[in-house]
Amino acid sequence: MKKLGILTSGGDCPGVNAVIRGAVLGGEVVHGYGFVGFRDGWRGVLEQDVVPLPRRSVRGISRLGGTILGTSRTNPLEGGGTGAVRESLRRNGLMGLIAIGGEGTLAAAKALCDQGVNVVGVPKTIDNDLGATDYTFGFDSAVQTATEAIDRLRTTGESHHRCMIAEVMGRNAGWIALHSGMASGAHAILIPEHPVSLDQIATWVLSARDRGRAPLVVVAEAFVPEGQETPYAPRGLDTFGRPRLGGIGRLLEQQLQQATGIETRATVLGHIQRGGEPTAYDRVLATRLGLAAVEAAANGSWGTMVSLRGTDIVTVGLELALGSLKVVPEARYREAAVLFG
Ligand code: F6P
Repeated sequence: MKKLGILTSGGDCPGVNAVIRGAVLGGEVVHGYGFVGFRDGWRGVLEQDVVPLPRRSVRGISRLGGTILGTSRTNPLEGGGTGAVRESLRRNGLMGLIAIGGEGTLAAAKALCDQGVNVVGVPKTIDNDLGATDYTFGFDSAVQTATEAIDRLRTTGESHHRCMIAEVMGRNAGWIALHSGMASGAHAILIPEHPVSLDQIATWVLSARDRGRAPLVVVAEAFVPEGQETPYAPRGLDTFGRPRLGGIGRLLEQQLQQATGIETRATVLGHIQRGGEPTAYDRVLATRLGLAAVEAAANGSWGTMVSLRGTDIVTVGLELALGSLKVVPEARYREAAVLFG
């Protein structure tokens, strides 16, 4: 029987389990493939930490948050390299790997493929910042969670006549802030792609207050006010060498309160945005990506990732995912900004 390995790497994300289920069911039903899962991403590959993934192990998992396989930010190129990955495939009798991950994972997958290891990638991030796919699964769920939280901040802000700030995730892209801010009717949305000054933010906040509203600000974690240095203390690097972000909400709390005289409170939504059940949209998208990843493997299309183009799932070269960060276009920001004034 032909066998494939599956791993989930990087930050977890609602919908990962639906990808695993889609791949296992598609592989078994259409091709008669068997599957194993590696625990905790590349760590499991390097350390041969393997679990069998028969059909019964994926029953009912597409609605579950997190990942049944566990995840880590282990970088395979640092932790043993291509040789160890190849050995793991050989020992487990695998024709290749399906790697479900974000930018760091897909970069590692590409480097491994370049050295002859068979990998198909599935793009995964709540940040929606991967090129060559229109949306990543997990993004819709994160936006839904953030929007529900911001709606709650609004009611307490209105009761106390306060300005409320919600800091959301997204790494260097403002997608979660843009969508949750639009959905919740924020009076200012602050994203790294479009720096604005503290004066401009204060103007939006005061104008909302003058219209009788409790000002609501949604800020993306990588936003830096125009004219300021990265204003918050760096929180170190992750294993892929990227800075850990966060802290701008608290800083804006002080700066805005001082600039406007309005009592201000910041809330960091943090990992709540990554947890919990995926939305129906994400379950469907993730399942389709899992099915398509197995088809790519069956066709021998190694070195590719599956991707959403319009309403179709297509296969593209892994290098396209890595070329450039998919950031919020200026026109999308301007569209949202009409609603601030
Ligand atoms: O990439 C997903 C993400 O949740 C980012 O939005 C965030 O900056 C980062 O991961 C947090 O990483 P960690 O879970 O390692 O703190």
